[in-house]
Amino acid sequence: MNPTAKQVSAIKAAVFVLALLPFAKLVYLVLTDALVEPLQYITRATGDWTLYFLCITLLVTPLRRLAKWNWLLKLRRMLGLYAFFYGALHFTTFLWFDHFFDVAEMLKDVGKRPFILVGFVAFVLLIPLAVTSTNGMVKRLGGKNWMWLHRLVYVIAPLGVLHFWWMKAAKNDLAQPLLFSFIVGLLLLMRVWWARSRRSPEITNGRGRGQTRRV
Ligand code: HEM
Repeated sequence: MNPTAKQVSAIKAAVFVLALLPFAKLVYLVLTDALVEPLQYITRATGDWTLYFLCITLLVTPLRRLAKWNWLLKLRRMLGLYAFFYGALHFTTFLWFDHFFDVAEMLKDVGKRPFILVGFVAFVLLIPLAVTSTNGMVKRLGGKNWMWLHRLVYVIAPLGVLHFWWMKAAKNDLAQPLLFSFIVGLLLLMRVWWARSRRSPEITNGRGRGQTRRV
């Protein structure tokens, strides 16, 4: 399936609106006073959506390669920015509504729940990716440097899973972290496989090294 440019624009607009729905739902639940434990609900929902969008963003390349859906590349930047958007909401909830910017309180909390520090590192690493997501920044950095920088997502997603795992381990509830470890692990392993087979001399079909066929 390769949609026309017009259809891709329509898909992009639809994904943009769909990706805002979890946020709209949160706003609605808060405004209607429907949440029993709003702080916990918002922290968890925004954390979940950050992880979902990281996974969805990582899914673009495998889908593009396996299904030959090159047009998916046009959605990748937006999906990555949504991971950052929900991550920023998640962090703001912790910083503002949970701790009212009280650094001493936050550090005490991190001491009690060190998994927060892992989430913090993952979020800090997301910032340069969001900042350099514009076409202007791609040009300024140069394609190769930009690509290397954006490989940080291969560290960010496992850190997000570790953060989730560590939090749930304290509650002896590892079903979901196991699922996300499998998903992120598979998405990263596919890339390792493709990178290795690009370099492997066995698939050069008699061509010299450096002229390896892309798989
Ligand atoms: C890429 C960055 C991050 C990802 C992917 C992420 C993801 C998650 C996920 C999936 C959860 C569990 C939600 C659930 O139980 O359903 C969670 C919980 C939590 N996260 Fe994050 N997080 C990130 C960054 C951060 C940051 C920067 C902070 C604060 C400095 C933070 C603080 C917390 C806290 C306090 C909880 C526990 C909430 C509770 O016990 O109710 N996270 N996060």
